[in-house]
Amino acid sequence: MTGELKWWQSGVIYQIYPRSFQDSGGDGVGDLRGITARLPYVASLGVDAVWLSPIFTSPMRDFGYDVADYCGVDPLFGTLEDFDALVAEAHRLGLKVMLDYVPNHSSSDHPWFQEALTGRGSDKRDWYIWRDPAPAANGGAGGPPNNWTSFFGGSAWTLDTASGQYYLHQFLPSQPDLNWRNPAVRAAMLDALRFWLRRGVDGFRVDVMWLLAVDERFLDEPVREGWKPGQAAGGMLEHIYTQDQADNRAFIREMRGVLDEFPDRMMVGEIYLPVEKLLTYAGTPDAPLAHLPFNFHLIQLPWDASAVRRFVDKYDAACLRAGSWPNWVLGNHDQARFRSRVGDAQYRVAQTLLLTLRGTPTAYYGDEIGMKNVPISPERMVDPAGLRQPDVPGECRDPERTPMQWDATPNAGFTVPDADPWLPLADDYATVNVQAQDHDPASDLNSFRALTRLRRERPELTAGPYRSLDTDHADVFAFVRELEGQRVTVLLNFGTEERDLGSVTHGETLLSSLGDQPASGAPLRPNEARILAG
Ligand code: GLC
Repeated sequence: MTGELKWWQSGVIYQIYPRSFQDSGGDGVGDLRGITARLPYVASLGVDAVWLSPIFTSPMRDFGYDVADYCGVDPLFGTLEDFDALVAEAHRLGLKVMLDYVPNHSSSDHPWFQEALTGRGSDKRDWYIWRDPAPAANGGAGGPPNNWTSFFGGSAWTLDTASGQYYLHQFLPSQPDLNWRNPAVRAAMLDALRFWLRRGVDGFRVDVMWLLAVDERFLDEPVREGWKPGQAAGGMLEHIYTQDQADNRAFIREMRGVLDEFPDRMMVGEIYLPVEKLLTYAGTPDAPLAHLPFNFHLIQLPWDASAVRRFVDKYDAACLRAGSWPNWVLGNHDQARFRSRVGDAQYRVAQTLLLTLRGTPTAYYGDEIGMKNVPISPERMVDPAGLRQPDVPGECRDPERTPMQWDATPNAGFTVPDADPWLPLADDYATVNVQAQDHDPASDLNSFRALTRLRRERPELTAGPYRSLDTDHADVFAFVRELEGQRVTVLLNFGTEERDLGSVTHGETLLSSLGDQPASGAPLRPNEARILAG
């Protein structure tokens, strides 16, 4: 049965933030050779694919999400040869490799934008989105063409003084939006996909997939009710003209066409939308779009058993109806580390949930050893989202991007001891690190490995339908995964009370987050995640 599933359905995806995984050059920034050297560790986690956040040529104003050459590797990370070696080593270890494709915007350093800046008559002018200033009451230039905002704060428009026109950027002014309505843009961007697919890349994470098209009337967006100055810029407007526009699907369909030119490739789209809209990004059997539209709802929901159960029931059913494969995420390079969000006591409950629900889990580097958000002092802050909105809590993404903690030596084995890592290491690295946890059967690391091992041993955990169970306790989420007469029951205690679940707890314990093997029928302890056979 699992044989019928594709790798991106049965597998676990592991996200690597290349700057922070392993530095091989001693400059304090992670790189491709570093990642390659650590791939045996990644394979030891029992994951199936690595997704690398952007490695392309970039001025790094948004740490690679500002691409200056879609077919080049940034020298900070290495060379194309280093990349080929990484892919070869990953494939030798049975790991798929996914890259981060950033189609919505390029860097302002990209030669296309530089050419567009040469004037209205430039060949590349229409590769970006230009508008005249708004009409002004007294005949002068009236400022930005409309009220659209950048996710990182301020207007989404920047004036090019030479031509007197504004260009659109939903992120930094140095990240101008590409005009996907222009066929030449699409052709060039699709060729970039082919370039990497020919080099053996197995798939892509597609950046801000739901923002690709903007409404061509360029009307003001309504201000969101309840939004107050001082809150995150991205939440100020109802993005009715810049998000989830119908034309997105046509563009994604073309990307899908390119992926389908190659066997067994996939894409997962970054999309922050409610379930019904999210699933439209998977397309239909006749016109498939993204293989997986990222489901970020576990990040956004309150950490509450009833709320989580309600959401899982709804999403799982919606996926079945839509013929779409589910997927789950607890964290990434834009979101607080989930251990900091749910707390130490609930950390393994959350990890168990991620790895036992029906659907593809994506795990973020370091979460498997229990890394937390690292407080960053204002002097060390580098994330443009944080620097541009210093007073908005949670907008700075540096705390979740700190270097991987490999061992207890100075700089945690991430870089040479005398280098200055690009972001500071967590204070706890002397105890929270791979080396300390590797051989400790009770460690977070080995509890992660036990979960991925169980997924391989029990096909019902990948291919089996999901069904939630009613219990008398609002702080317990219980569900079964069953396939061809084999069944596991997953019991998650989100609370701090012991819960007697009666017959639901009957069965052999396959795993308990508390590290022991409670007898059949034993009550669920506070903060316990237990997986039972039967
Ligand atoms: C996505 C990325 C984020 C980046 C933004 C602009 O949301 O995940 O890191 O800053 O797009 O590319």
